This record gives sequence, C-alpha cells and structure tokens, in this order.
Amino acid sequence: MFENIRDDRQFAPATVRNREPILGVLRRVLPQRGTVLEVASGTGEHAVFFAPRLKPRFWLPSDPDPSSRVSIAAWRDYQPVETLLAPIDLDTRDPEWAQVLRAANANARPPVPELARSPICSIVCINMIHIAPWSAGLGLMAGAGQILPPGGILYLYGPFKENGQHTSPSNVAFDSLLRDRDPSWGVRDLEQVVEAAAQQGLQWQETVEMPANNRSVVFCRT
Ligand SMILES: C[S@@+](CC[C@H](N)C(=O)[O-])C[C@H]1O[C@@H](n2cnc3c(N)ncnc32)[C@H](O)[C@@H]1O
Repeated sequence: MFENIRDDRQFAPATVRNREPILGVLRRVLPQRGTVLEVASGTGEHAVFFAPRLKPRFWLPSDPDPSSRVSIAAWRDYQPVETLLAPIDLDTRDPEWAQVLRAANANARPPVPELARSPICSIVCINMIHIAPWSAGLGLMAGAGQILPPGGILYLYGPFKENGQHTSPSNVAFDSLLRDRDPSWGVRDLEQVVEAAAQQGLQWQETVEMPANNRSVVFCRT
C-alpha cells in the first residue's frame, strides 16, 4: 500500500541564492585534494550542492545541533554523492574538537575512517560566527590552526564590519536583530577576525565582495 516516507530535510532560502557565488570562490581557493570540513552545515543544502561539484575532495559536514544533523543526513539520503560523508557532531566551543578529529578518526561522532587516507585540508564555515558567541569564532580559529596543514585553507562567509563600520544599512538592521535575539551574537569586525586568525597561524589571504553585502574571507595556514 502506502509507504510512510519521512522527510527531515530543512530548507534555508538563502542557501539557494548564495551557493553559486560561494562555489565560484571555493573552486578557486580550495586545495585540489583532501577533505573539506564544513563547520556549521545547518540544513545540509550547501553540503549536497558543493560535494558533487568539488570532487575529488571529500566533504565532511558537521553541526552541533542534532536536528540540523538529521536534516543534513536526510539531504544526503535524498541526493547521495559518494564523496559526501555523514555529518558529525562538532561544536567549535569545545577546545578538544580539532584534537578529536586529528588524533584518531575513530573518536569523531560518528567515526570518519575516510580521514585516514584523505586528511582535512580545508575548512568552510558559512554564516556561523555572527550567529554564535564570539567564543565560537575563536574556537573555530584555534581548531583550524591545529588541524590544517601548511597551505590549508579556512574559508569564512557572512557579513562583516570593515574599519569598525557596517558595510550597508541592511547589515546595521541585521546586526541589531541578532543582538536583540542574543547579546553575544552580532556582525563581527573583519579586522578582529583577521587578528584572531593570525594568532592561530592563519594568514589572511583575501576578502571577496559577495551578493547581499556579504564577504568571503580566505585564510591560509602558514
Ligand atoms: C545560520 S546557521 C548557518 C547554517 C549554514 N551554514 C547556512 O549557511 O545555511 C548557523 C549554524 O551554526 C551552528 N552553530 C552555532 N554555534 C556553533 C558552534 N559553536 N560550532 C559549530 N556550529 C555552530 C548552528 O547550529 C547553525 O546550524
């Protein structure tokens, strides 16, 4: 008769608008091989879009939120790609996150055996550091500094203040919306982010203007 098909995929409309411009930058800046760790994958829509387009790299999605991981897994079931790995539980505020992934692939939740032959060479983090406490951004930098090899890339995407100023009226409004929701959230200062990255051995490479007053910011592990 009828199968009871559960569909746990979540949808974030912005991903369809920003995925092509982001892909253009990723194709240009990511190392050709290795595994791309995506921090804060959210719905998983970026993961299923990028993974097949960035082969032969593996794509490892992650999120600390269980319902996001369920959505990522549902997207992966819906659009299977051999290079798209199962989502892992990763919170950048956990000071051990990089050691857990680096020291023994088996310690990740769930284990990621593919990392033994295809180590993490890049980290992609889209729309997270302003929608989380600053400690999450600092934890991202600290872990990236530990896990990336020399030449490895950290890619950030989102809105940023530049020279202490918002880059558009819409970002002013967005910033105050975020801070109303949680005072520890908010659009970050690009200079502060670059400085925090430098302290972890991540050298700023370039900033690319993106649609809707966002920026791509690229760092290279020295
Ligand atoms: C606005 S969503 C962005 C999701 C996706 N990258 C996108 O662009 O659609 C922010 C995500 O950051 C995740 N997040 C929040 N704090 C985090 C942390 N400390 N470490 C890793 N991810 C975190 C949330 O669970 C959420 O999925």
